[in-house]
Amino acid sequence: DWTMANFVEQEIETIREQVGDKKVLCALSGGVDSSVVAALIHKAIGDQLTCIFVDHGLLRKDEGDMVMETFRDGFDMNIIRIDAKQRFLDKLKGVSDPEEKRKIIGNEFIYVFDDEADRLKEMDFLAQGTLYTDIVESGTETAQTIKSHHNVGGLPEDMQFELIEPLSTLFKDEVRELGLELGVPEGVVWRQPFPGPGLGIRVLGEISEEKLEIVRESDAILRDEIKLAGLDRDIWQYFTVLPDIRSVGVMGDARTYDYTIGIRAVTSIDGMTSDWARIPWDVLEKISTRMVNEVDQINRVVYDVTSKPPATIEWE
Ligand code: XMP
Repeated sequence: DWTMANFVEQEIETIREQVGDKKVLCALSGGVDSSVVAALIHKAIGDQLTCIFVDHGLLRKDEGDMVMETFRDGFDMNIIRIDAKQRFLDKLKGVSDPEEKRKIIGNEFIYVFDDEADRLKEMDFLAQGTLYTDIVESGTETAQTIKSHHNVGGLPEDMQFELIEPLSTLFKDEVRELGLELGVPEGVVWRQPFPGPGLGIRVLGEISEEKLEIVRESDAILRDEIKLAGLDRDIWQYFTVLPDIRSVGVMGDARTYDYTIGIRAVTSIDGMTSDWARIPWDVLEKISTRMVNEVDQINRVVYDVTSKPPATIEWE
């Protein structure tokens, strides 16, 4: 009989057999797949697992701390947090082309791991959250070149590990079920998809710390209110984007000349196509009011009502 509890038991046995007394590395991004893999392998081999979590400074509000709380404090895992914020920002300085930003961010991940090579040398295995669909799709993937999708935590090519991919027979919904079975918090298990380049492609054009802050704060308000309205499971992805435009407004007696923030919220099955989410107007109103009141330099909020195609989900 196939049950999730049986699956866990069997996988634990397989992982223990495969790893023996050796060491396993897992690049934790905070996303569903890498989180569940880490939890499963930790259950099997405990301290023989080391997770590396690269904070590139392009995460959402409080996300880095949440990852540490969940896995270091909650699961008592060996986890190394690498604060790489400054080096990513430095590399991205003056760059405004979306694909170039992606490339720089993807490469910088590799350089970060390269710099850890000494510490990683003692690792024998690399755990990856590859799903069944990843394997099937990579065989048939055609011209998905509209945007280059870099995976978080790409590793230097000359680092040789044996791979462990315990999710490779599972679909996404099964991975979520497995996560819950392993005690991964619901907030992680049901986390919305988040692109590897993070907020770096949600500040349109050139990135600055100030602009990242505007996106981060407005995004936090959006997430808050979507959750309060009970819509967080129905909407596939919801986030804010900061176009590089200012417009005139009035606050109190004063004229303002501040940024416009865009809200993107879509329903989708797999991210390949999507429709804009019909968020109730009173919820949108509350979101808009809060953003203008609580986030510095925002005086206008717009809602993106385009489907994919012809638009994409992200704005870059
Ligand atoms: P688009 O914008 O192409 O997005 O409609 C489809 C899905 O892919 C995510 N996305 C990315 N994920 N690296 C990623 O890991 C990327 O560069 C990237 N670009 C888009 C997007 O968030 C959506 O879920």
